[in-house]
Amino acid sequence: MRAPSAALQASACALLLTGCKGVQTMLDPAGEQARHIDVIWRAMLGVCGFMYVLVLAFLAWAIWRARRAPGLMEPATGHTASEPRLERSLGVWAAMITAGLTSLVLLSFVVDRSMAARAPQPLDVTITANQWWWQVRYEDGRPDQSLTTANELHLPVDRPARLKLVGSDVIHSFWAPNLGGKQDLIPGRTNYVTLTPRRVGQFRAQCAEFCGLQHAHMALTLTVQTPLAFDRWRAEQLQAAPSPGTPDQIAGQHIFLSRACVLCHAISGTQANATSAPDLTHIASRPTLAAGSLPNTPANLKSWIEDPARFKPGVNMPKVPLSGHELDQLVAYLEALK
Ligand code: CUA
Repeated sequence: MRAPSAALQASACALLLTGCKGVQTMLDPAGEQARHIDVIWRAMLGVCGFMYVLVLAFLAWAIWRARRAPGLMEPATGHTASEPRLERSLGVWAAMITAGLTSLVLLSFVVDRSMAARAPQPLDVTITANQWWWQVRYEDGRPDQSLTTANELHLPVDRPARLKLVGSDVIHSFWAPNLGGKQDLIPGRTNYVTLTPRRVGQFRAQCAEFCGLQHAHMALTLTVQTPLAFDRWRAEQLQAAPSPGTPDQIAGQHIFLSRACVLCHAISGTQANATSAPDLTHIASRPTLAAGSLPNTPANLKSWIEDPARFKPGVNMPKVPLSGHELDQLVAYLEALK
């Protein structure tokens, strides 16, 4: 057998060292609800691991004993010798199983209740799952203070966020493992999940219910910020899109508003106000394109518009016929939408 390559060994070591850290793992809880789940996960691992080791130890002991006394393995001759010590230990075993399972049931109940508790003054966010992107809407009593973005969720640290989860086409599932558990987004039904981030950082959420061809390409970047940074981000997002400045940007805006783009997307401050595709008012400020499929760079944006199906086969976004020059102008306009 060939020895594993150095690269394989290095990645195995890296996995061992970093396996419990990361932007999308429940083993690195960064929120109140994820910590509760972490407690129950560790309790289950501990109780079940302990039982498993005990079972294996008894199995090994039984095999060892049978080998030392071969008569034990003979077919029964009509009566079995009684073994009072074994019978007593069977009682202890049954008591341990009962205590272990009961404690897990009680812990599950307490954790479930604490996660379902209503948080005071939460931040209200409506998340709508679509094939294959997320619409994120921050609700406010004043319509001019409500904002819509896509494929990114910003949350202030230490403030509960109440996510209203809606499905627009098929069943999806919202899962931000560093912050909490999974919750389905079902057409015709509204679900809620509360997340209380406890650590500033960048995380990743992912659709966790198979929803079609691009299910795996349905991610959402999750930014937990200080309240000050969150307010700044929110204020920036509430601004209308900047007017195009250069001739290329002006031509790009004209292309956007006169071709198929305007039928699905919205850009505030323009006539574009469709909602069947991501709102692009501040697209240049987002970290990724196509629901986490590509880093948001001008080159990627250009390739994406040129042929979306190349990156996401089955995607609803059509290939809009544009000349190379028109594509450059369109990208110049979109890149200015910070
Ligand atoms: Cu949406 Cu899987």
